[in-house]
This record gives sequence, C-alpha cells and structure tokens, in this order.
Amino acid sequence: MPIDSRFVQLPGMKHQKKILLLGSGELGKELVISAQRLGVYTIAVDRYANAPAHQVAHEAHVIDMLDGAVLKSLIRRLKPDFIVPEIEAIRTEALLELESEGFHVVPSAKAVNLTMNRDKIRDFAHEKLKLKTAKYAYAHSLEEMEMAAEHVGFPCVIKPVMSSSGKGQSIAKNKKQLALSWHLAMSHKRGDQSQVIVEEFIRFDFEITLLTVRQGARTLFCPVIGHRQERGDYQESWQPQRMPVKLLRQAQAMAKKVTSALGGNGLFGVEFFVRGAEVFFSELSPRPHDTGMVTMITQDLNEFDLHLRAFLNLPIPEIRCHGAGASGVILAGGKLKDSSASYLVRGVEKILQSKSAQVRIFGKQELKPFRRMGVILVGGANEKKALSTVKRLRKMASVIESS
Ligand SMILES: Nc1ncnc2c1ncn2[C@@H]1O[C@H](COP(=O)(O)OP(=O)(O)O)[C@@H](O)[C@H]1O
Ligand SMILES: [Mg+2]
Repeated sequence: MPIDSRFVQLPGMKHQKKILLLGSGELGKELVISAQRLGVYTIAVDRYANAPAHQVAHEAHVIDMLDGAVLKSLIRRLKPDFIVPEIEAIRTEALLELESEGFHVVPSAKAVNLTMNRDKIRDFAHEKLKLKTAKYAYAHSLEEMEMAAEHVGFPCVIKPVMSSSGKGQSIAKNKKQLALSWHLAMSHKRGDQSQVIVEEFIRFDFEITLLTVRQGARTLFCPVIGHRQERGDYQESWQPQRMPVKLLRQAQAMAKKVTSALGGNGLFGVEFFVRGAEVFFSELSPRPHDTGMVTMITQDLNEFDLHLRAFLNLPIPEIRCHGAGASGVILAGGKLKDSSASYLVRGVEKILQSKSAQVRIFGKQELKPFRRMGVILVGGANEKKALSTVKRLRKMASVIESS
C-alpha cells in the first residue's frame, strides 16, 4: 500500500487519458505540465513525498518502486492508460508482468527492463546489435574487478550497474586505485545488485545526446545536443552540437537501430562519445534526458512534448527549432551536509536580467551536495554564445540554507 497519497478532485472535465509516472523528479515535472496542457490526467509516483512532479500532478503517491508487489497493486488499482517510467530504480520485472496483463508501458516494458541496468543495455547494444562501444567487462568483487581492468586497460571507468547521475562512478588510473573505486561503487549503488561495469576510458573529442523519437514506423531526430559533465553529472548542454555529417549519420543510424530493437513509441536519449572519426554508443534512456532540458528553449515541441505526442499517438508534423541554445544546471553547494532544512535559490533576479535567459526551479525537498536544484536556459542564434552566457549566469546562482 502507498505510504502517502494525495489527489485533487476534479468535478468537471473528463480526461481522455490517464498517465502514471514512476519517478517524479524535474523531468517528470515538465512531462506532467506538458501532459496537463493536452488535457491528460496525471498521477505522479515517487519514493519520497512532495517530489517535483508531485507538486504539479493531479494525484501523488509515495511508494517503494523497487517493491514489485507494491508497484503492481498500486497500478492495478489506479488503472492508468500509460505507465511512464522516469527513472531506472524500478522493479521492472513487475512492468513486464503488467504489460502482459494489457497495461501499456512507455515506450515498452522491454525497453525499460533492458535499460534499468547498464549491463543489459550494453550487452544488447554491443553483443546483439554490434554497435561500437568502449571495451568493457563486469565484476562482482574487487578481485574480479582487477581482472576486468587488466582486460580493458588503464585508465578505466568503474560504474555500479544500477546507478544514475554519475553516482558511485570513478576513474582508476592504476591497480592500486581499484579498491577505492570498488568501495565508491558499492556505497552509491541503487537497488540490490553488487555488480560493476569496468569500461575503457575514452578520450573523446566531445560527447552528445541524440534525442530520438519513435512513433510507429517513423523515427525522428532532434538536432544533436552537446554536453559537459563533471563528477558524472551534466553541467551544461547546448544545441546544436556541430559535427561532420558523416559522423552524424553514423550516430543516427546507431540510434535508429537500437531504438527500433527496443520498440514502442516515445522519445529516447541516446548517448555517444565522438573521437576522431569514431562514434561510440555509450548508453540510452527510453525517456526524456537531462541534457535535453535545453529543448525547453530551443524547440517548438520540447523533449517532453515529443515524448507525450509519440506515445499518445498524437501528430508530430515536424521538429521545429527557434534557434540555438544552451542550458546550465543550478547546483547545491559541494560542502553542504545532506539536509532537509529550508533553502533558498539565490540569484534568480540577476539571471533574469539577461533578456535571453529563463530559469526553472525544480522545488526539490532536500539539499544534498551537488544536487541539481534548477536549470538556466538561454536561447539565441548561436550555441557558442548561448553557452558562454549560460556559464556566466551559472556563477550568479547559489543555493543557501535558510532558517
Ligand atoms: N568509458 C568512458 N570514457 C570516458 N568518459 C566516460 C566513460 N563513461 C562515462 N564517462 C563520462 O561520465 C559521464 C556519465 O557516464 P554515464 O555512463 O553516461 O552514466 P550516467 O548513467 O550516470 O549518466 C559520461 O557522460 C561521460 O562524460
Ligand atoms: Mg549518461
């Protein structure tokens, strides 16, 4: 049973469709807002109360989404037309079962199941579909990790197979550093799996997200998004990322291959590294991507609108851009202790003095070191200029504890 629930009684309007979001962070919040604009009834679920999407949805529930029985009972009771996962940490076997009962999982239970853990999607992309990736191996212990690192070579990147936003990730330059990497991975993993992936470190020229929309037999691509990561988490993204057409076609072909194999209607964030003339598939989210928040300022239909239209089977005549743009995250300070104290996001007034800037504050309940609390969006004719403006504006923002 849910530990906490809230819903708004709506006397008048009958909603055509009902969607249930599993995960209610900032991406879910924007999806809910887009859905409500189309007259869709929205239910937001997360493991803590008052998550960002809870604050805007018609109905909010708090459950442990890794508990299959709890997940199934909530969904069978609420009977949504679409189950829309927003995060990886979900008991996805329950979704496979629900799909077989006739529930509609977005984009498909298979896609969600295969992308829940890094190992399944990596094996699927590399071994089954033969997409080029960094060299990799798996390990369940420090000893196995040493063997894996020998195989892929140093430096290597170590990641828990179930984690996101760079949590528990590290780079080991030599054998000595592996013990710390193992410890980090085990203390930050999500879910119950004690397995890591050890990857060859790719010295890429740049990395990209290719937002790929599937609707029936159609595949559409948004202009390529470039991004910069720190501590495994995105700091700024920009659109378009300029790249040679030949490499773009390669990335698009790889994205089409993997998304078609996963199936279903929706938007996917497909990540690649580009080094010289090589394009490496890195990972994929079968849903809107954090670096894709830039589309809120660049595109007529942003990534949330596109995801919705794709699975609701509403027309997507074309993906139109207003111009170039950039996004930059507003983070909590690195020295903060985890805290449920009240906080203030400072600098918004100053940022908004820039005529091309917009801000989205997510409304997260708790502060954690480096937690993403908001995003700054800058539009313009030129992505380089937009990016340098975003970088300048980011310095004006700060998150402070307030009593
Ligand atoms: N094999 C690698 N070589 C170089 N950089 C990497 C590698 N794997 C990850 N990274 C860096 O770390 C970031 C986060 O890794 P990713 O696998 O995308 O994890 P997450 O699921 O947390 O986003 C990447 O966007 C990239 O900047
Ligand atoms: Mg990633």
